Amino acid sequence: MAATGEHVKALVRTHAAGDDAAFYAVALQVAAKAARQGHTTLAQELKQIIESARRQPVVSKVTPIARPRGDLADLVSASFPEVTLQDLVAPAAVKDSITRVLHEQRQRQALAEHGFEPAHRLLLEGPPGTGKTMTAAVIAHELSLPLLSVRLDSLLSRYMGETAAKLRIVFDAVASQRAVYLFDEFDALGAHRTGNDVGEARRILNSFLVFLEGANTESIVVAATNHRSILDHALFRRFDVTITYSLPDQAQAREVMRRRLGPLGRGVRWSSVASTEGLSHAELVKVAESAAKEKILRGEDHVSAADLNKALQAYRTAAG
Ligand SMILES: Nc1ncnc2c1ncn2[C@@H]1O[C@H](COP(=O)(O)OP(=O)(O)O)[C@@H](O)[C@H]1O
Ligand SMILES: [Mg+2]
Repeated sequence: MAATGEHVKALVRTHAAGDDAAFYAVALQVAAKAARQGHTTLAQELKQIIESARRQPVVSKVTPIARPRGDLADLVSASFPEVTLQDLVAPAAVKDSITRVLHEQRQRQALAEHGFEPAHRLLLEGPPGTGKTMTAAVIAHELSLPLLSVRLDSLLSRYMGETAAKLRIVFDAVASQRAVYLFDEFDALGAHRTGNDVGEARRILNSFLVFLEGANTESIVVAATNHRSILDHALFRRFDVTITYSLPDQAQAREVMRRRLGPLGRGVRWSSVASTEGLSHAELVKVAESAAKEKILRGEDHVSAADLNKALQAYRTAAG
């Protein structure tokens, strides 16, 4: 036999990973081995199959469930985000954590063969506007998966039983449809009250945690919250990875504005830009956009430090 066990394993692995280039490379190795063993007809036939297959247009490998159906349709909204890890401005520790998750997910077969699970339950916490929702989008994009954002308003019902049933629908999807599932503003789950029973909120959160415990490792469940303090410490242990976000330092703040301005910001003297302390990434994006638009409307094509300072001041005044 031309293909060794190693070859067969590699073929299955590369196929499962959707890695065409690696798959055909292994197949060619099998053909080469066949040729060396004197099975010239087999070697030639294999090469022909590989070559004609490579010429075929690649049928979209994108997970086919862009549009959730049935009960799930009311509970999640689906998107295919375009935002990349490069777009995220964050300290190395945050980027490293995300890279690690991506790596484990990409190598999940190899991990599984040795009895390990990839990180698939993520808790993102930190102040508003620092990139938590964006990170869920980044992970979806980098793994070419849909982002399914759970709509908490639809999920949370006045009736505990109904909420639990809806949670089950979402986690059934987690098991059957590989995707990134985002529970944004996830703390609402633990704060929600049905009727006037405070204990209900606890039970909803607990039932979420039970589902999370059994969540299929193929999908990624991301919970994001702006309110670390209200979350129970025990809760953090239920996630494979916790990533903490914070407001940008000066260098990061400039980077956020510089990227948003693009070519318009080429001439900015950054040393003359006022302090951005206390502002989040999202707020800095807005400041940069406001300065840029103002200039464009005036028919100019560059933004200066003075323009940014004006926009910063206007923003701070408006925000009180
Ligand atoms: N770390 C970041 N790097 C670059 N842009 C960011 C970052 N954080 C936020 N933004 C910008 O602000 C927008 C809103 O941020 P978001 O991810 O929703 O914040 P959060 O979920 O933490 O409240 C993003 O779509 C992006 O344009
Ligand atoms: Mg958010």
